[in-house]
Amino acid sequence: MHFQWYPGHMTKARRMMQENIKLIDLIIELVDARIPLSSRNPDIDELGKGKARLILLNKADLAEEKLNDTWVEYFRRKGYSAVKVNSKKGGGIKSIQSVIQEACKEKTERDRKRGILNRPVRAMVVGIPNVGKSTFINALAGKACAKTGNRPGVTKGKQWIRLNKNVELLDTPGILWPKFEDQAVGLKLAFIGSIKDEILQTEELASELIKYLEREYPSALADKYGIQQSSDTYQCLREIAANRHCLVRGSEPDTEKAASILLEDFRSGGLGRITLESPGEGQEEIEDRRGRDK
Ligand code: G4P
Repeated sequence: MHFQWYPGHMTKARRMMQENIKLIDLIIELVDARIPLSSRNPDIDELGKGKARLILLNKADLAEEKLNDTWVEYFRRKGYSAVKVNSKKGGGIKSIQSVIQEACKEKTERDRKRGILNRPVRAMVVGIPNVGKSTFINALAGKACAKTGNRPGVTKGKQWIRLNKNVELLDTPGILWPKFEDQAVGLKLAFIGSIKDEILQTEELASELIKYLEREYPSALADKYGIQQSSDTYQCLREIAANRHCLVRGSEPDTEKAASILLEDFRSGGLGRITLESPGEGQEEIEDRRGRDK
């Protein structure tokens, strides 16, 4: 499967991010826990040089628990602060305030030595579209917080959310588009729904997902649709269609519909908790290559 994908507005978004990064101490980068590397944009390391970094594995509820922990360890080993969260249900959100303080302790210490006390940490949330940035900001800010409004001369035109006396959050998240040369990375982004289905062949995409599931989660399809390993992926789609009573022309299995159902079930967690990449499966190579592609 081969596709090319060049989203618009990339340059504009990058410029906005560069502007905003000057104003903050900490970058809170959301990644999708199902594809923690493929959902990162390599530009962020360069854009965020000199800033404290916190990586959140969001949608942790959709990914395999054991692998969530493995990924958290992986990022910590690389020198980032890292935690898993479920922004939708609020899981892991309570501890974020202390994680933020911990991630910024060097900066706080530097401030203290220079006689600057009690200056709040300023943070910005960044990530690729649909990774859960707005959901996370809402979960973290809750109802209790107040917007601090503009600060003339310092943060002109920017809205800040005061979480407490120690932390302020820029209320507009930074949008980074996923960036890839590697088709395998593109495919994973398509599985989770980060690349619009219209530009991809739904049945082809679903077939690729079936291949992955049969290899890595052999019982997932049987548990959900009552089908055993099929001779080929197209046959599998026919069986899903039959299981879900999707027929065209009266009796033919509607494989297009079955493909959409499968993708939707995967994306919403209906097939169980599934992680599409693990550390140590040539992932570091992907990361290096993505770094070079910048
Ligand atoms: P963005 O700002 O980064 O573009 O993402 P946004 O917050 O709009 O979230 C995109 C989708 O991901 C939303 O679903 C949201 O509910 C879901 N989401 C965010 N965080 C989590 C999480 O931790 N776990 C799960 N399971 N889902 C999460 P949606 O279908 O577009 O909207 P809705 O129907 O849920 O409101």
